[in-house]
Amino acid sequence: MDFKSHRSIDRATILGGVSALTLSFAVASAFGQATTLKDAAAAAGLNIGVATNSFNVTNANYAAAVKAQFNTLVCENEMKFQSTEPSRGNFSYNGANTVANFAATNNMKLRGHTFVWHSQSGWASSFNGSRAEMQSIMQTHIAEVGGHFKGKVLEWDVLNEITADGSGNGLRTSFWQQRIGNDYVDSAFVWSQRTDPAAYLYYNDYGADGLNGKSNAIYALTQRLMTDKRPIHGIGLQAHLSRGLNANSIRDNIKRFGDLGIRISLTEIDINNTGTTQDWVGLMNACLANYNCVSFMAWGLADGNSWIGSNCGCLLYSGTANSPTPKTEIINALIQALNNADPAIVAKRKEFAARLPGPNGLLGTTQIHYAQRPVMHQNLIRTSGKVGVSPVFATGSGKATDVLGRKPAQIKGAANSLSLRVLPQ
Ligand code: XIL
Repeated sequence: MDFKSHRSIDRATILGGVSALTLSFAVASAFGQATTLKDAAAAAGLNIGVATNSFNVTNANYAAAVKAQFNTLVCENEMKFQSTEPSRGNFSYNGANTVANFAATNNMKLRGHTFVWHSQSGWASSFNGSRAEMQSIMQTHIAEVGGHFKGKVLEWDVLNEITADGSGNGLRTSFWQQRIGNDYVDSAFVWSQRTDPAAYLYYNDYGADGLNGKSNAIYALTQRLMTDKRPIHGIGLQAHLSRGLNANSIRDNIKRFGDLGIRISLTEIDINNTGTTQDWVGLMNACLANYNCVSFMAWGLADGNSWIGSNCGCLLYSGTANSPTPKTEIINALIQALNNADPAIVAKRKEFAARLPGPNGLLGTTQIHYAQRPVMHQNLIRTSGKVGVSPVFATGSGKATDVLGRKPAQIKGAANSLSLRVLPQ
């Protein structure tokens, strides 16, 4: 393994006269430079992981590779609606529990994927309910699944793929959107926050990794949600990419969300058509250049099991789950990129990534949007007490409560500090 880095070269210049080989090992040890992805990522304040499933984590070869290199997992399919609620009101966690237990046993973090999506949602997608009934279905699903994994999931993909492709199209037409209305987006965040107030709540999408029409629409939606004080903490950029990717555009897109105080996670990375070392390092550096880029997740371990197809050349290992073979050149280059991360940005990332959502559901930052004051949901009024039964929120005005169910009179200073906005229903 090559430990050489910019730092070792700087040291070489300073010390002089020592052979490069001796020096690189001496410096690696002196600076404690990491030699695995997970150690290098932890030092850079980054979560690094793969999408997985309950079958693969019980395979010894696979488990050894995952444990050696990664510190975060996400279920590729087993936390989706059709898996966790196979029929209405019946919840099943077998596969997801296996993955969650494997993560806990091995001191790994867990992403949650996903509550609300137009796809893989089983019976719900063909359920022709009224607005109120569909709200109840969505709310119950979030309360049950989020409640089951409460405290175990670092980042939840509350919403998945809700923006239409292309530019300027706004929300995707989906069964949730059509049967509830556009405010299903707001409701999903509020109900998720009520269920697991410590989790980071994300909206996750594809084709919006760099600066383009779709990411512009997502940026505008994020701003709107923040203006309305919805508990959104992160955007997931899926990063289903191809060889020759434009790293600068991705870097700049991540930055503009950072300027809003929004976390970015690269959630489903694969670099199709045999992604090169340059592509992988470019993507990693686009993340490392930004303090708000906190998670780097590949969508699978080995090419042989990729959803893209076994010839994709798109992941960090070739072979299959039973015989994963590390792509050593790419992995070593990623370790080096992590080891070379700018210490000032690393320090800022560690501080930022550790910020917890406050009692009002918002991430505490110095950003203007995140002033710690009561948040009101004037268009989402709580009408019944129990989370998990229908419906907790209804439309109206003048009876607003915040995400904790407090009325304005119960919130000190609320009358003067609130700026309410009623959304179109
Ligand atoms: C994919 C899985 O990888 C496949 O196994 C499954 O058959 C379909 O879904 N965007 C997402 C992921 O958010 O959930 C998708 O995962 C890939 C695209």
